[in-house]
Amino acid sequence: MRIPWSEVTPPALRLRRRAFLGAGAAALLARPAFALTGQPSPFSTDETLTPLEDITSYNNFVEFGSSKDAPSRLAGRMTTDPWSVAIDGLVERPGSYGVEDLAPESAVEERIYRLRCVEGWSMVIPWLGVPLGPVLERAGPTSAAKYVAFETLWRPEEMPGAASVYGFPYQEGLRLDEAMNPLAILATGIHDQPLPNQNGAPIRLVVPWKYGFKSIKSVVRITLTDTEPATTWNLLQPQEYGFYANVNPEVDHPRWSQATERRIGEGLFGGRRPTLPFNGYADQVAHLYAGQDLRQDY
Ligand code: MTE
Repeated sequence: MRIPWSEVTPPALRLRRRAFLGAGAAALLARPAFALTGQPSPFSTDETLTPLEDITSYNNFVEFGSSKDAPSRLAGRMTTDPWSVAIDGLVERPGSYGVEDLAPESAVEERIYRLRCVEGWSMVIPWLGVPLGPVLERAGPTSAAKYVAFETLWRPEEMPGAASVYGFPYQEGLRLDEAMNPLAILATGIHDQPLPNQNGAPIRLVVPWKYGFKSIKSVVRITLTDTEPATTWNLLQPQEYGFYANVNPEVDHPRWSQATERRIGEGLFGGRRPTLPFNGYADQVAHLYAGQDLRQDY
């Protein structure tokens, strides 16, 4: 059964509704076909949400230009329906999947994550999405698979960005154990709504313990490989952007400090706060890097 987006009530909102209406009325609102449990995710932060207006108007999506407002003005041209995502490479069941196959509305959950851009700003974004791990499991990674490569749509006729300057399509990658970490999600919505194009519609990666450039938008291909995939920013500026790109206040960008960040929506001069190791997700992910020198593997 398909449930339209307008019917979907994310957990946080449902909890508020229940508190307001009381148990009896809440039972009437119950949707047994819909899998959201009503429990907030233990991975979600309770920090103040960045307003939707800021999340959708201050963007990095170089395919549509390099200014922060270009994606919100121009990404509407991108056709997102129909859409398919190829899952291929070292998997037992390669295939081409629709967004609904990968992230059925019945499986979508809310995750409120901090997003820390390598440029020194951050937001708190209430995503809707599904964990990436089970999606990969369904494709059946072979024992040789060690990495996951991701690719963004490349359709120059709909993308008036700097095609001549950047190497396209935008590509990113994770180690397989990073991709299987429960924090990694494929997002299809923001703030109770389908993902706006400028935020990477119809489906994008979100890896909150890494700098934002790892969270690749508008994904059309996911490839399991045995070698570390090439990544866009590393290809462009290898001295500045590594493969791992874990948020790390102790390793400065060659051109600026990473010790603090500016929270968007809290005013140009307010909202500056210390940046946390792994963007505050060390408890969930630090073990992935045991024995690694994170200055070397930046
Ligand atoms: N994905 C693609 N395809 N193209 C991009 O330019 N920018 C990255 C990342 N994903 C980018 C991308 C960067 S630098 C950041 S900080 C985040 O998207 C920004 O996501 P947001 O605009 O939804 O906040």
